[in-house]
Amino acid sequence: MLKNKHIRLVEASNENVDLLIKWTLDSNAQGPYKSVPDMNEEALRALFLHNTDRQYYMIQTIDGKPIGRFYYRKWRFTSDPHTIDWELNIIIADPDERGKGYGTDAQKLAITHLQSLQHTNSIFAYTMNENIGERKALEKCGFECVGDLNQVYYAIDLGVLRPEHFVLYIIKE
Ligand SMILES: CC(C)(COP(=O)(O)OP(=O)(O)OC[C@H]1O[C@@H](n2cnc3c(N)ncnc32)[C@H](O)[C@@H]1OP(=O)(O)O)[C@@H](O)C(=O)NCCC(=O)NCCS
Repeated sequence: MLKNKHIRLVEASNENVDLLIKWTLDSNAQGPYKSVPDMNEEALRALFLHNTDRQYYMIQTIDGKPIGRFYYRKWRFTSDPHTIDWELNIIIADPDERGKGYGTDAQKLAITHLQSLQHTNSIFAYTMNENIGERKALEKCGFECVGDLNQVYYAIDLGVLRPEHFVLYIIKE
């Protein structure tokens, strides 16, 4: 478990996965800049509990209130198996709990953890241009904005979404 004096990140498990699934399928919990994925509950359960490239967490306040979902995802953009680039992804699912510093806290905790791992090349996150809350949170975590998602190295397939509509933030080791 990762924690500070405000929040803790509790690994996804059979005990908390139902709430993680509920939030993921709830447009209110996803907020105005993220979409509900086209996945059913069983596919989400498998992703949250068994995907070896991702670690999902329930974000809780320090007194135990569940407030959001967080994950980091391992990407290998080169053929070198020792070069890992970690993507962060977050939702503070309860709109009443946004703007209280928890999003910044959760991402800071993950950054410190990922920086301590061998083979971490960079940590990155992307968000919609208009998502000022997430952009400010990322900047407070020490990320540098490097422009839109039209990148040679960070070759992320957005499907039907346009890379120019997203900004990429990076912490390089
Ligand atoms: C984006 C999100 C993760 C940010 O976490 P948060 O806990 O709400 O943000 P914080 O309280 O840590 O705020 C960070 C900074 O952004 C500001 N901020 C937060 N929400 C804001 C908003 N909607 N508009 C403008 N500024 C905002 C805060 O005031 C703070 O700045 P300050 O320290 O200068 O006052 C959270 O709001 C959220 O989950 N939203 C819905 C899902 C989402 O958009 N996820 C990210 C998509 S990639």
